[in-house]
Parts: sequence; C-alpha cells; structure tokens
Amino acid sequence: MNEKNLVSLALFNALDGALELEQIEKLIEKPKTSELGDLAFPAFQLAKIMHKAPQIIAVEIAEKIVTTGFEKVVATGPYVNFFLDKNAVANSVINEINEKQNYYADQNVGNAANVTIDMSSPNIAKPFSIGHLRSTVIGDALANIYQKIGYNPIRINHLGDWGKQFGMLITAYKLWGDEEAVRQHPIDELLKLYVRINAEAEEKPELDDEARDWFLKLERGDEEALALWKWFREESLVEFKRIYDKLGVNFDSTNGEAFYNDKMDEVVELLENKGLLKESQGATIVDLEKYDLNPALIKKSDGATLYITRDLAAAIYRKRTYDFAKSLYVVGGEQTGHFKQLKAVLTEMGFDWAKDIEHVSFGLVTRDGKKLSTRKGNIIRLEPTIDEAVERALSQINAKNPDLTNKEIVAHQVGTGAIKFYDLKTDRTNGYDFNLEEMVSFEGETGPYVQYAYARIRSILRKADFKPSEVEFTEIPAEAWEIVKLLQNFSTTVKRAADKYEPSIIAKYAISLAQAFNKYYAHIRILEKNDGLQSRLALANATSVVLKEALRLLGVECPEEM
Ligand code: ARG
Repeated sequence: MNEKNLVSLALFNALDGALELEQIEKLIEKPKTSELGDLAFPAFQLAKIMHKAPQIIAVEIAEKIVTTGFEKVVATGPYVNFFLDKNAVANSVINEINEKQNYYADQNVGNAANVTIDMSSPNIAKPFSIGHLRSTVIGDALANIYQKIGYNPIRINHLGDWGKQFGMLITAYKLWGDEEAVRQHPIDELLKLYVRINAEAEEKPELDDEARDWFLKLERGDEEALALWKWFREESLVEFKRIYDKLGVNFDSTNGEAFYNDKMDEVVELLENKGLLKESQGATIVDLEKYDLNPALIKKSDGATLYITRDLAAAIYRKRTYDFAKSLYVVGGEQTGHFKQLKAVLTEMGFDWAKDIEHVSFGLVTRDGKKLSTRKGNIIRLEPTIDEAVERALSQINAKNPDLTNKEIVAHQVGTGAIKFYDLKTDRTNGYDFNLEEMVSFEGETGPYVQYAYARIRSILRKADFKPSEVEFTEIPAEAWEIVKLLQNFSTTVKRAADKYEPSIIAKYAISLAQAFNKYYAHIRILEKNDGLQSRLALANATSVVLKEALRLLGVECPEEM
C-alpha cells in the first residue's frame, strides 16, 4: 500500500461513506511545505454535502482518525494534515520487499489474459533499422511490464516477408545477381540490388512491370519465384537472429506477412459479404469517409493483395488463436493512418474487439540532428553499432575496474543495456538523437549509471555479509525517506507504465531511485557498526532488489560487479 492509499482509506473509514474512495483519492494533495505534513485533505467539498463549515469538518475528521501509520493527524483551517509515521511505513515497505524479493509489486490485473504484442517486424532483404530496434525494445519492455501485472504477453514478429519489393528483388537478382556474393553478405548484397533496381526503374519503367510480374508469379506459387523468395528470407533471418541474440530478445511467433497468404481470400469474402467492398479505378477498396480516413486499399487492379489486407487477416487470426484482451502494435508514428484504417475496417466488419487494438507509436531517431535515410546513406547499421557500444563499455570497465572477472559478459550487459535504456527512457512518442557516447556514459541519466548504482549496493552488501532478516526502523533520515517513498511507489509506477504503454515511466523511476540511493550513500555511513546497521543494509538491499527488477522490466541486465 502506498502513502496515498493509507490516507484515503483512513479518510474513507472516518467519513462513513460520505464520499467514494476514488473521490477522496482525487482530493488528496501534497502540502506546500513539510511543516504541513506529508499529505493533506481539503474539506471544502464535504462542506457542501454536510452543510457545515470546512474548518469544523476538518477538526471532526482529525479527531476520528485512529489508524496506525500516522505520527499525527491535525486540522489546519479547512485542511486535514497527515504526518506519516515514517518508521512504520519504512518497516512495512522494506520488510515486504526483502520477503518478496523480485515478486514485489507483482499484480493480478490481467487475470492471465493474453496480450498480443506486434513488435520488431523488420523487412526481409532490407537492413534492420533503428525504427525496428525501437519497436523491438519497446515491445519487449511492454511484454515484461504486462506480465508483471498479471497478463500473458505474446511477442509476435510480423516479418515483412511479402510484397512487391520481392518482385523488385527477384528482377534485380535475375539481371545482376551474384549467388556467391549473396551467400557471403546477404543483407548488403540484397540491399545493393534493391537500391539499384529502384534507381534504374526511374528511367526504365519496364523494370517496374517486370517486378510486378514476378510478384504476381510469387503470389501464384511459381516455383522459381518461390525458391528465390525462400532463399532471400532464410538468409535475412540468419542476420536478424544474430541481432536478436545480442539483444536477448525472443519471440513467441514469427508469423510474418507471408503466413497470411492462404488467409486472404476469407478476409476478402468477409468484406464482400458485409457489402463493404467498392470498385475504384479498377482497385478494390473499403470506403472510410465516415471515419474521416482515406479509403483502405484491399486489392490492386492486378489482383495483388496489400499490406492492410494482410493486417486484417493477421488481426482476425490473432483474435481466434489467442483470444487477446488487448492487441498492441509497436510501430512508428508514420503508420498512424494505417492503424486507424485497420481499426476502422475491423469495426465496420462488426468485430467489437477492434476497440482492444492499440497502435503504440513512437518517434523518429535522428543522427546529428538529421533524419536517417537509406537512400541518402545516413543509416545506422545496427550490428556494428551494438558491437561498438560493447567495446566502449569494455574500455570504461578497463579504466575503472581492470581486475573485474567476466569482463566480456559485463561489457555486453552494459553496452546493450545502454542502448536499450537510452531508447526506453525517452517518452516513446518523442524521437531522440542517436549518440553512442552519451548512451554508454556512466554519468547522467543512463543505463550504466543505474547499473553502477546496483553494483555499488551489491558490493556494500557483500562487504557486510548481509543476510536478510526482519528489521525495525527507529529513525529515518531525510535521504532514507526519499528512498522509502520511491520503493513504496514501485507498484503504481509499473501499473501506470502499463496503462500508458510507456516504459519510460519505469526508466525514469529507476534513475530517480539510483540518484536517491547515491545521495543516501554520500551522506550516510551505511557500514558504521551501530544499532541502525541492519536496517540500513535492509534498505540498501531493498533498493537493489527494486533497481534490478525495474531494469529487468526494461530488458536490461544487472551485473553484480562492474
Ligand atoms: N514491416 C513493417 C515496416 O517495417 C512493420 C510491420 C508492423 N506490423 C504490422 N502488423 N503492420 O514498416
């Protein structure tokens, strides 16, 4: 229970139902100065209901409250001021954490219902972009967060493994491809072919026609086309898998766009039966004017199916397979229109679960303030970038702690953690500038900073040979009280992050907790041998447990030493 709940429950009991619990919670304020206590309740609203002066009501309430957990409860004018019994709060929070360990703040909001999370979803035969990295780490964090509040997350990698680009690619390969080169460096070679055909097609439109033909052949199951497609797909997946391994991310399903090939007819039929399909310039569309949206293009004039048609099939398939309570799509903000259309078409089809679909969008990453662009050569190659982050972490470790064992493993945890943490601490709808040096720095609001605070606590605990036991606080200095309040708020923090699909809430929380601990460490002699020693160690231990769990939710590991 957090401090606000403590106060609102006490008030609720004292008020005999004059106000609902939620109403009380909304009214509770933080007083301007600590002389007025930790929390305050204004009696103005009650005055209207009870037809009494708020000053009188405040006095009556203050007298009635007997709950433990408060040092005192006093009326000041029209306000009731609550002074928490800090020792009692600390006892309950710290002992609870040391007992529950990483299960602290687990919740059962979800009742084990499924949440599908469409995440990562890179395109075959193209490089894994920073946008796909964002989708991967945000999606993975949301999966962990939803699991913590009692849902069953299902991580789905909706691979971009179908579409007209394969017609382009096959055409290019037939014209200029070199089998051995593709085997050696699949993504590089395929990208070269793709870039070349796009450039040449601008002058020679017949290349476009050829590409369209190849894609149609592919859709009709032509053997040669299928064999090439399969090969490109497998080679790409090997490269992607290396990146996922480095990031430590796994999927429950890698059903990509191609998986829905045999499920498209049914979608078109369903749309047809509902009378939703219209012809427009030879193409088949669903009109979405009443939603103020552009029409959804279901089939092209040559019969080729489209991105949204596949997403319709995928959404229906996911509902049938997982009966999800929520279906999240972690995809960049540039696809907002697409997901609005998807939801609108599903709504028109009469699926009431369309409301459970949520586009979790995110902002663009820049470098040196400039937009990234494959065509202009301003790209960030993910794999070498991860390796460089690990290198940088290693050289910092070598400078700070050259005798550390398992240096390579720790450097990997710090380097990858740094990239993930930096991404996740950003409000997801904002973008950020990609700056590896800043990400891997041990100072500032970074992953390594939080990891370092954790490692420092673990080293203190090792030194003291700490064994958890029930503790009793007898005094709480201000620096400790800051930590206790944060620890107490972990549960609501996790819930808020889930409700807003916003891992940054947890990342910012972890930074605050690490900062609060470092302040405590700077002012308090934790290891001093006196009566408070075991309580101080218990506080430190509880902090390490919650720091580690917060980072785990973000997909960031915590070395014991660094
Ligand atoms: N492959 C797409 C892209 O890179 C993202 C797919 C997102 N998921 C989806 N179900 N549409 O742009």
